[in-house]
Amino acid sequence: MTSTDKPAAQIASEDWWRTDIIDMQPGVIRYRGYPVQELIAGGVGLAQMIWLMTRGELPTPAQARLLDAALMAAVDHGPQAPSIAIARMAATCGVGLNNAMASAVNVLGDVHGGAGEQAVRLYRDIAARIDAGAAAADATGAALDDFVAGHGKFISGFGHRFHPVDPRSAPLLALVDAAAARGEVPGRFARIARGVEDVLAARKGGRRIPMNIDGATAVVYAELGFAPELARGLFCLSRSVGILAHAWEQTQQGGRNKGPMPRSFIPTYSGHAPRSVPRQD
Ligand SMILES: CC(C)(COP(=O)(O)OP(=O)(O)OC[C@H]1O[C@@H](n2cnc3c(N)ncnc32)[C@H](O)[C@@H]1OP(=O)(O)O)[C@@H](O)C(=O)NCCC(=O)NCCS
Repeated sequence: MTSTDKPAAQIASEDWWRTDIIDMQPGVIRYRGYPVQELIAGGVGLAQMIWLMTRGELPTPAQARLLDAALMAAVDHGPQAPSIAIARMAATCGVGLNNAMASAVNVLGDVHGGAGEQAVRLYRDIAARIDAGAAAADATGAALDDFVAGHGKFISGFGHRFHPVDPRSAPLLALVDAAAARGEVPGRFARIARGVEDVLAARKGGRRIPMNIDGATAVVYAELGFAPELARGLFCLSRSVGILAHAWEQTQQGGRNKGPMPRSFIPTYSGHAPRSVPRQD
């Protein structure tokens, strides 16, 4: 039946879920027009597939390598990271792996994991100010002032609770630098992010607040042209790998109702001293 033969109600129903992403009919699966058989046979990997699904085209090999590196670098940060701890605790509550994963992904917010989205926004803001004629240092200072006014004093993508220097940032930036030297990415956002570090250090009397994993992956995502919102989504995909591994490991280790610390340690009570309930009559 051609579309012109179809009743209006059928056309309206089929258009209800209009999508450019997948063409799925009995015996047919095409992503963005590419038959799944060819994608499989052609060795298209997960990072390339993520790009194809979110951006509409296959990435170049150079783009795919950078995206893969950013996704790989952020998979896990151990049970010190709230998302991982939550996955492990949830896994002991009698829920399935999917529930444990969903609980963990749910806490990837502005401060933990979602900082990359804000960092991409910040870098883009600085780029826009430079494009409008501001000198790089002035653009960075003004963008940081606006960021602090909107979000508070912590600049997303910089600083780390544990690492004086985040060991993931420099290698990621080195990959971006090398790609920029080959003309594969602009290199502009790496310069901008380093400029943020410099301005922050100047404001802290010379004390550096180094770029963290979210700041560094934000450089990669900005260089690759991902929208800020997708930076958070990509982090969720990446961290889901660690979340799954930890939820599975905890499942195998066993345990029931695992709390945030051993039960021999009781959380400090800081409330009112013991007292009697007043008579209610
Ligand atoms: C991760 C984070 C919570 C660690 O904060 P912290 O434990 O207070 O860090 P430190 O104790 O090392 O802070 C030392 C100083 O640097 C400042 N600082 C730390 N991170 C900063 C940031 N991102 N922007 C501005 N100043 C920052 C602190 O305010 C503090 O300054 P002070 O001594 O004048 O009060 C913090 O850096 C932060 O919120 N970063 C932004 C969010 C982010 O990127 N999260 C992802 C982490 S992987």
